[in-house]
Amino acid sequence: MNLKALIYRARIRGVPVYCCFLCVLYLFYKQFFYPRLQHADCVPKHLHQYVEYNEKFILVPRELQSAEISELASTIAALNYERTVFQTHKYGTVTSKTTILVVQVHRDLERLQYLIVSLAQVREIESVLLVFSHSYYDDRINKLVSKITFCRFMQIFYPYSLQLYPNKFPGIDPDDCASATGRRKTFCSSRDGRLTEHKHHWWWKASFIFNNLDWSATFKGTVIFLQEDDYVLPDLLHMLRYMRRSHAYLPGLHLLSFGRPHAKGLDFDLLSVSSWHPPFDKGLAFNKSLWQKIAAASVYYCLYDDLSWGYSLLNVFRKFKERPVDMVATLMPRVLSTSVFPSGRAAMQQIALWLVGTSMFPVNVKAVILYSSNGRVNAEVKHPPRGNGGWSDLRDHLLCLDPLMSTTIGNANDITATTFSLTTNIVAHYITVGQHKMNKSDADLT
Ligand SMILES: *[C@@H]1O[C@H](CO)[C@@H](O)[C@H](O)[C@H]1NC(C)=O
Ligand SMILES: *[C@@H]1O[C@H](CO)[C@@H](O)[C@H](O)[C@H]1NC(C)=O
Repeated sequence: MNLKALIYRARIRGVPVYCCFLCVLYLFYKQFFYPRLQHADCVPKHLHQYVEYNEKFILVPRELQSAEISELASTIAALNYERTVFQTHKYGTVTSKTTILVVQVHRDLERLQYLIVSLAQVREIESVLLVFSHSYYDDRINKLVSKITFCRFMQIFYPYSLQLYPNKFPGIDPDDCASATGRRKTFCSSRDGRLTEHKHHWWWKASFIFNNLDWSATFKGTVIFLQEDDYVLPDLLHMLRYMRRSHAYLPGLHLLSFGRPHAKGLDFDLLSVSSWHPPFDKGLAFNKSLWQKIAAASVYYCLYDDLSWGYSLLNVFRKFKERPVDMVATLMPRVLSTSVFPSGRAAMQQIALWLVGTSMFPVNVKAVILYSSNGRVNAEVKHPPRGNGGWSDLRDHLLCLDPLMSTTIGNANDITATTFSLTTNIVAHYITVGQHKMNKSDADLT
């Protein structure tokens, strides 16, 4: 199109300059943005209500005053005590056989909303309980979750978060080298509260799910562990059904895993059996029997000098008598990571393209184990000789060993009173313990 000639003709007919300018602007917009916007529309109309935040949105943490912190601490304690399950009027009460999907949430609302959109499209999602475990309390996050109508859900809140302990352990403590003041000290702990929170939260959340819910004592269901930057495929629960039958060919303890990096051409109808190791910590799933074994070996998680919960869990498994701990994994991941993309939206678009022409919901599923002439391939993973560091502080070890504070909680009749004594108890308790660190060498601790 000869734009110059067009504008010239318009001008001699008396069309004002600004009209021409607007026209050009419109054509430019249509050319470069409109097709992409249309293409981006992979969110079905009835799920648009869950998409509120655009790619530029960043939830900036707000610094709280100490009065606000104690108020928030008691709100959180009350919510964790009440443990309300929503949407039971529609989907019935949770039983000890219900599958639980638990999502660890920090502050990435943009990605979380696309995870919710993907969950809404999972077939049979109405049969599960979704648990959102938050390390950051914010009305916008809670509101987004509260909109869910497609299944039962509940929200729990990690009570030893950086938000509640901004200037002291388990947050950033004055005794940490990475303390808020930034001054170098001679004796300081090399821990960084911003990095230790994730491993603590994972452990606390698993303990909470398997011990503190009304049906925990008799719980026989499967728990699938997710994070806010995950994206699930519609046949997640369809595959779970096959994988639950795996004890027919794989007796003894094992894990299920739904995640691994995506690659082209992976079979949707294959399950692979191999020994477990990260990165198969994405979309991990297991039941209470395995959790009890893990919890019984908690020292190998809590004292292992590594910030990653996945490698700490691997360290637990290597202490099990029945080794290696096997996993049954979907060859084609059903849980994909959105963190490798610039935004949740970009991830969703790419994943939609990956799924074009593929066949989900396989009817026949095969489980395969890789053997060579020397026996099973990858029968035992090489374990790192030691952890990657960042987790050597005795205070972190002790908090981790007693995540639900079962030894410090008194009676819980009066929620408000318990809350306050609870928080002060913990702080007092751990500050005292922290002093021990100073005259202990790191070697003694691990
Ligand atoms: C957990 O799964 C295993 C099979 O992997 C099964 O033998 C065990 O009974 C299950 N535990 C519970 C509590 O359902
Ligand atoms: C650590 O040092 C403090 C004083 O610096 C001392 O009171 C305490 O007994 C020591 N603790 C241990 C375990 O040695």
